[in-house]
Amino acid sequence: MGDRIGDLRGRALRDLRISLTDRCNLRCVYCMPREIFGPDHVFLPRERLLTFDQIERVARVAVGGGVTKLRLTGGEPLLRPGITDLVSRLSRLRRPDGGAVDLALTTNGTALARLAAPLRDAGLDRVTVSLDSLDDEGFGRISDTRMPLGRVLDGIRAAQAAGLPVKVNTVVRRGLNDGEIESIAEHFRGTGAVVRFIEYMDVGTTNGWRLDDVVPSAEVVERIRRRHRLVPVAERGSATASRFRYADGSGEIGVISSVTEAFCGSCTRARLSADGHLFTCLFASDGVDLGPAAAESDDTVAEVLFGAWRRRDDRYSELRGAETGDHDRARVEMSFIGG
Ligand code: GTP
Ligand code: 5AD
Ligand code: SF4
Ligand code: SF4
Repeated sequence: MGDRIGDLRGRALRDLRISLTDRCNLRCVYCMPREIFGPDHVFLPRERLLTFDQIERVARVAVGGGVTKLRLTGGEPLLRPGITDLVSRLSRLRRPDGGAVDLALTTNGTALARLAAPLRDAGLDRVTVSLDSLDDEGFGRISDTRMPLGRVLDGIRAAQAAGLPVKVNTVVRRGLNDGEIESIAEHFRGTGAVVRFIEYMDVGTTNGWRLDDVVPSAEVVERIRRRHRLVPVAERGSATASRFRYADGSGEIGVISSVTEAFCGSCTRARLSADGHLFTCLFASDGVDLGPAAAESDDTVAEVLFGAWRRRDDRYSELRGAETGDHDRARVEMSFIGG
């Protein structure tokens, strides 16, 4: 098997993001608004979720075909029972050249205080914690929860204490938390945690996205620059974030600008939903069902997975054309494929 599977635009498959559940214990207003994800919402039944055997098989085949990075997402991945077992299975995968695979997890952090050390022991390499406010009231309002903010902060500390490198993802929305950009950056400066400010995107169809709600990354950087000297860090490659370090050595921040500066040209990411559908773009309307292949053999998975990647032509963010995004088309929800 070759280790470079190219799509129609010559982009290799390098990064597989695996959603473990469509459930979450928070109801962030821009992701799982309670009006839609309320008590009547039907989540995937357990029997529709890929089993750990199926997930491991897809991951193994993907790694054999050139994937170097696996990221576990949700919903909230830490709600999936047995996650540490899955992490230990995935951490044993090796690339064709014998190298290790970068194994990361995106979480809301509410269960990290309990799970950080076991996850680290199981072989997890790093975590990304989603956190949009450092104000108790703001956190409660944005995440639509009564859970205390302190639980997430304890989770971040536990992850660092366990030796897991931490990134913090902050989705910035005008009028919601843009007043906190400086204080969030300041809070994590010097702690080793890297904050990435994310432009609010028009993912899914339930969050009522408007261009006016987007705070351009250039504005975020400019505001932090008023307080600290920032130095751009190297080339981005296929990463989502543009990185900057504080000139005084107190750390690093990143900005993810998929609205004002699309990065589809270097997009090497595929997403696997909890029920086994492969999405080749965050903004896709549908995915290819890998479930049956994953229940069968490595060869069948390779055929379906690489076949779908070779046919891939997605570049939604580039085509979005600022104002005009095609908002009528059905798109998969963020909570379903994990961002
Ligand atoms: P690192 O390897 O830690 O740099 O991870 P990452 O930046 O790939 O992953 P992360 O899950 O932290 O992504 C951060 C956010 O960037 C996501 O939650 C999305 O909001 C956004 N994002 C990630 N990948 C894509 C992508 O392919 N397209 C778009 N439009 N946005 C993306
Ligand atoms: N725009 C940008 N980022 C989003 N996320 C969820 N919805 C959106 C959106 N509409 C982020 C979450 C989390 C990651 C999985 O995706 O905050 O960090
Ligand atoms: Fe849950 Fe993350 Fe969505 Fe918030 S953004 S509702 S924490 S999946
Ligand atoms: Fe990749 Fe689609 Fe995001 Fe573009 S919009 S970077 S193709 S996931």
